[in-house]
Amino acid sequence: MCGIVGYIGNKPAVDILINGLHQLEYRGYDSAGVALQCEDKINIYKAEGKLENLSSELTLHKREFENATMGIGHIRWATHGAPTVINAHPHTCNCGSLVIVHNGIIENHKELKALLEKKGAKFRSQTDTETVAHLIAYKYEQTRNLTEAVRLATKEIEGAYALCVMHKNEKNKLVATKRNAPLLVGVGEGEYFVASDVPATIPYTKKAMYLHDNEIVTLTLNGMKLINPDGIELAQKIETLPWEPVALSKMGYKHFMLKEIHEQPDVIRNILVGKLHCAEENISLNEVKLTKDTLKELNRIQIIACGTSLHAAMVGKYIIENFCGIAVDVEASSEYIYRKTVTDSKTLVIGVSQSGETADTLTAIKQSKAKGSHILIITNRPDSAMAREADSLLSVNAGIEVSVAATKSYIAQLVSFYLLALYMAEIKGSLDNATLQSIKTDLMIVPQKIEQILSNKESIQQCARHYANTKDFIYIARGINYPTALEGALKLKEISYINATGYPAGELKHGPIAMLDESMPVLSILMKGSVYEKLLSNSEEAKARNARMIALTNSKDEKLKELFEFIIEVPDIQELLSPIIAIIPLQLIAYYISEYLGKDVDQPRNLAKSVTVE
Ligand code: F6R
Repeated sequence: MCGIVGYIGNKPAVDILINGLHQLEYRGYDSAGVALQCEDKINIYKAEGKLENLSSELTLHKREFENATMGIGHIRWATHGAPTVINAHPHTCNCGSLVIVHNGIIENHKELKALLEKKGAKFRSQTDTETVAHLIAYKYEQTRNLTEAVRLATKEIEGAYALCVMHKNEKNKLVATKRNAPLLVGVGEGEYFVASDVPATIPYTKKAMYLHDNEIVTLTLNGMKLINPDGIELAQKIETLPWEPVALSKMGYKHFMLKEIHEQPDVIRNILVGKLHCAEENISLNEVKLTKDTLKELNRIQIIACGTSLHAAMVGKYIIENFCGIAVDVEASSEYIYRKTVTDSKTLVIGVSQSGETADTLTAIKQSKAKGSHILIITNRPDSAMAREADSLLSVNAGIEVSVAATKSYIAQLVSFYLLALYMAEIKGSLDNATLQSIKTDLMIVPQKIEQILSNKESIQQCARHYANTKDFIYIARGINYPTALEGALKLKEISYINATGYPAGELKHGPIAMLDESMPVLSILMKGSVYEKLLSNSEEAKARNARMIALTNSKDEKLKELFEFIIEVPDIQELLSPIIAIIPLQLIAYYISEYLGKDVDQPRNLAKSVTVE
């Protein structure tokens, strides 16, 4: 949610800022703006909507900033105040000398605003951010030093922020700081890049320094200086990032989502390296820092997550209970944090998050940590706020996921849960050897099976087109694939805006069946195993109400042709691993429907990739 960029160097700043903002678009936004240091003032340009609107605005004024080599930029996802030009960042003090961009939420903005108004601040927007601009400007009047002004101001701010600040009187200087919101500095040759996330810096440099909470960095053409909130200079921790710029390109695919769906076989192979060598050897999971004795004695696990990660957590619950016989609760983080939870040092708490920045999950994790629970984090971002809270960190290594709709990170989370459950089962001795070996053997060949589905995707595309004009869509499943139904429905709803719902099939007759008629597509996730026959009966019940039946199945039963108007066949797989296979066609259906309807596949309306507000 929201994205910040900043640049100081010797190249035209506007191109770097706009390019950086494009790389952060996946975070979700509804207005944008940049500020550029010009001859004797700072010029600000803003626009509602997409970055194209900002670019058009900039084209009209390009002579004003053609020599600018320093600036800051922002994409805003509206929280305080509508997505208008006035509320768009950058924001300034009364006279426009002090300019800031901000990501996060200033919790005490009302109190600060009242104080600052008494001192003469004139507020123009409805944002919480403008308070910070006036506050830093006020501190600047007292200190005449931008870094010091930022340092003093941030002591009075409550809430989450990543800030990048410039001042007309301090030419060629950017100051940036953060608390509970991501921010890094890309370190080039005689130039620096500030950004909320790596995609904005990696096209220019692989060297970067992640800021820790409350640290303040000052960037000039002569170098950078890092201080702590007491003003003490800190050593700089510049690292070489493992990301390749090519990972951030579409590589010939029409959308990032399609590219990311196709990356899934390799994502799985990547996770298995070093952890699962062969079926005869034990799983190696050094990341889990609980002692074997503690693991053996665990009698309760809580998993907390949101959205797609929550669905991965539900599969996790199923397999941990099945493989290890440990009771597992799964809960949406946003619910977990507002009730009295029974958690203590004997509970293992697992937080699952692609971004590692989701505010609700982060809060939930901090709450359980305070109660003494061991915190295991499953995330795609080992550099995230959640990763820093982890006692054990399982990094899923799916590579940067650009499309807002999570696909490869979901698969990576699923596979991580399988490894964790197998690892615990081996320690506890809760699964017999033959079962353990058969699951491990089949897990290793899952990537090939996904490749088979992907090489046959035309039939799925055909199916998607057939149902693209429906207003509603129902997904049914039972057992281990109930979360698959939820995830399939979530994918469709978020990128096509079709009202899609996932149900445990046995629940149909307790209410949802009333909605069925000849206009309703019902997709049945009919994987062979313990609930196959039951689900077949539930599908018959739906068919009897004239629903348009679709099967997603690994069964070759000829009789299915009588019941279903479309059959999506997937390679055979044992039931316990079937969620990894069954989700692939559902991701593709959502993708093709969205693409067919001409929706913005990678950046669906109203959504943000990293949900940093509760
Ligand atoms: C759906 C999607 C969201 C996220 C949710 C949690 O495609 O991407 O539902 O799964 O916002 O985000 P993370 O996993 O980053 O905590």
